[in-house]
Amino acid sequence: MPGIIKEKPDMSFTPESLVRVPRHVAIIMDGNGRWAKQRGLPRSAGHQQGTENLRQILKAAVEFGVEILTIYAFSTENWKRPRHEVALLMRILEMVIDRELRELNENGVQIRHIGELDGMPERLQRKVREACATTAQNDRLILNVAFNYGGRDEIVHAVQHIIQAGIAPESVTEDLISSYLYTSGLPDPDLIIRTSGEFRLSNFLIWQGSYSEYYYTPVYWPDFNKQEFWQALVDYNHRKRRFGKTDDQLEQE
Ligand code: IPE
Ligand code: IPE
Ligand code: MG
Repeated sequence: MPGIIKEKPDMSFTPESLVRVPRHVAIIMDGNGRWAKQRGLPRSAGHQQGTENLRQILKAAVEFGVEILTIYAFSTENWKRPRHEVALLMRILEMVIDRELRELNENGVQIRHIGELDGMPERLQRKVREACATTAQNDRLILNVAFNYGGRDEIVHAVQHIIQAGIAPESVTEDLISSYLYTSGLPDPDLIIRTSGEFRLSNFLIWQGSYSEYYYTPVYWPDFNKQEFWQALVDYNHRKRRFGKTDDQLEQE
């Protein structure tokens, strides 16, 4: 639009040009269906394209210096979708493991699963376990795959396990609860990105995201490329994370 001066985005893609790189980035990969619909294609084509897109985002995450990438691939609410779509999303995860495990392993990616394995097809459960075990020693990038994941479900499980362990009420602290979540041992996400123009969490990392920075873009997931990812990191660099404090306090730190 004429008359509007837009800040020229920095596209140098070098971590050095950012003041801080978020250690942990989480992405709600949304908009596959609408991407397909826009092109007169079946939703499955959108899921396929969205899966392909992951490659460049993984590569970019390593290049940008992100240490942990968490991707939301299937929510506990996604079981409500038509049976054939649920089956397709399960097959896609299986196919990705079959096709990409070797290369991911060679590239030092540590795969972790967050979510409930129970309820997923048994063969897929085995493959997910195998992918996690094979890559457990890798340390270039931690890739957390949220599959059959729900934030409320995660908290319910944590509470059940805490009770089962016979932990005394006075020993229940925020740190203790964190240690019973699927993300145990990992820092909370610094930045949560959601594609496709939706402004909601959809049950994603509701405990861990309590102080995350949020970034929304109208771009559908299959079109969310390296440049878009970079833009999210640049935006993150303009945020002031106060964690409840005042600006004056932050300046004195
Ligand atoms: C995200 O794309 C993928 C999953 C939720 C599995 P969608 O399938 O939600 O795409 P839209 O939101 O219908 O466009
Ligand atoms: C969130 O997307 C879940 C994933 C990206 C896996 P949805 O498309 O399922 O979210 P809603 O239903 O629009 O909130
Ligand atoms: Mg969606």
